[in-house]
Amino acid sequence: MSATPWLRARVARKTMETESICRLELVADGEQPLPPFTAGAHIDLRLPGGLVRQYSLSNAPADGGRYVLGVLREPASRGGSAAVHQALAEGTVVEISPPRNHFALAQGAEQHLLLAGGIGITPLLSMAQHLAAEGQAFALHYCTRSPAQTAFASLLAAAHLAPRVHHHFDDGDAAQKLDLTALLAQPRAGVHLYVCGPRGFMDWVLAAARQAGWPEAQLHYEFFAGETVDLSDAGSFQVKLASSGRVIEVRPDQTVVQALAACGVDVPVSCEQGVCGTCLTRVLEGTPDHKDLYLTEKEQALNDQFTPCCSRARTPLLVLDL
Ligand code: FES
Repeated sequence: MSATPWLRARVARKTMETESICRLELVADGEQPLPPFTAGAHIDLRLPGGLVRQYSLSNAPADGGRYVLGVLREPASRGGSAAVHQALAEGTVVEISPPRNHFALAQGAEQHLLLAGGIGITPLLSMAQHLAAEGQAFALHYCTRSPAQTAFASLLAAAHLAPRVHHHFDDGDAAQKLDLTALLAQPRAGVHLYVCGPRGFMDWVLAAARQAGWPEAQLHYEFFAGETVDLSDAGSFQVKLASSGRVIEVRPDQTVVQALAACGVDVPVSCEQGVCGTCLTRVLEGTPDHKDLYLTEKEQALNDQFTPCCSRARTPLLVLDL
């Protein structure tokens, strides 16, 4: 059960940015204005059928009073992106969470290097507009399949952004492709790297940055919801509630959250895909099998917390701080 204080918002405009990406503009439904946000923030959007999905805000934080989202219709969607494309129309009232930011700009950085892959442009677009308005140094590299599949292209062509935007098209000639090795070759103190996009793109960029010696503290990234966790090799295990000593069996076809809920123990959830961190729970004994995209590799290696919405166990028993 989520403790999210839901807000009501109305779809003021819905347009297609590309064949498969729609742009949604949400405004307050009622007297209360929408809460302010910072660049890199996202909201939870409650969709018909009870699905909850996270979407980054793509407009500038100073552009108050509205939230602009970009949503890709994914063929393998578990229903979230299809629901946005099909069920939401101009005038539809939706429930959203207040904005949260796990992908904030580094304070005091000398320069910001923004790398977007496809729909990963959304939080970086907000950052670019904010940095341009503040007069801060940045460059945005935006990799897409083709000009036709490049969302927010006209906004990026505006005079205040265009000189800092570099497009890289998969179907373009070799000279315009992103030369990651050259771009990341010389990490410097004060230069921060931000990456958002599909998993393969992010792994590629982060691996190149680490290989070139970029310190972790200068790497910022956000994974998307949408990747379904593969439970095909899942086995059963037990979790024990530290507060009561109660032991609960987690069957192979259940998540820990589901097994706990079946026994009347509610853990707050939102994405249920290991992306948002809402369900994060402390582990007191045992070793989790991390399946999430939320914790960093270092945090996962500590094995003292896990995301019970998708992660499992490497040991027969996990003792949870519940
Ligand atoms: Fe989002 Fe578990 S509910 S990470």
